[in-house]
Amino acid sequence: MNPKWAHDAVHRKAVREGYRSRAVYKIREIQKRFSVIRRSDNVVDLGAAPGSWLQELVTLTTGTVVGVDLNPIAPVEGAVTLVGDFTLPETQEEILRAVPVVNVVVCDAAPKLSGQRSYDQARAIDLGLQALTFAIRTLKPGGNFVVKSFQGEDFSFLLDSVRRQFRAVHVFRPVATRKGSAETYIIGKNFMGRSGNGMQDAGSASSPDVPADDSLDD
Ligand SMILES: C[S@@+](CC[C@H](N)C(=O)[O-])C[C@H]1O[C@@H](n2cnc3c(N)ncnc32)[C@H](O)[C@@H]1O
Repeated sequence: MNPKWAHDAVHRKAVREGYRSRAVYKIREIQKRFSVIRRSDNVVDLGAAPGSWLQELVTLTTGTVVGVDLNPIAPVEGAVTLVGDFTLPETQEEILRAVPVVNVVVCDAAPKLSGQRSYDQARAIDLGLQALTFAIRTLKPGGNFVVKSFQGEDFSFLLDSVRRQFRAVHVFRPVATRKGSAETYIIGKNFMGRSGNGMQDAGSASSPDVPADDSLDD
């Protein structure tokens, strides 16, 4: 978390309520509005540390919940936590060993910032595309997908890529998102399945152009 936000009111509320991050309120809003997780769904959370989405996900389903992150995630009761880069085949295999049937993929992953804004923005969009590629490879037909993204020119590339895979697609900016942040979430519902959409990979975007005064913070 960016230190300048470390003690804002929403963060303090999250800590008071026993959550590891203010991000919990975003997945809660998304679930309330779009019902992406059903009672027995198996859910994979990409970029899950420190684990507040996992804390919420285990309350929403009786299915298996798996969280993966580059950084270790302190145990969350009811969830499997893995350390690894979700874009790598070996990590994806490990995820699938923990949860062979995937009903929902959620991704709140954000790249480590280099300080070079256009480079950071491009990596953020690419990470979203990698999450989509993972979802296309693993989701059951009818499954759901949530991915964090950032508004800008290449946002529409990611959005269109999601639209090709899911029967209903929504763009949603949770109230819990910080003012001035370009962050937004794409929600794909009802995955069409690997056969029939003619696409196995989400591809990759180039040179995203997110407004310069917007933030990549969570
Ligand atoms: C905003 S945080 C996620 C917060 C989380 N949703 C929560 O509620 O606690 C973004 C996370 O994405 C992770 N991340 C970024 N790239 C990743 C990758 N390729 N594989 C796994 N995790 C990644 C980062 O390590 C970071 O912990």
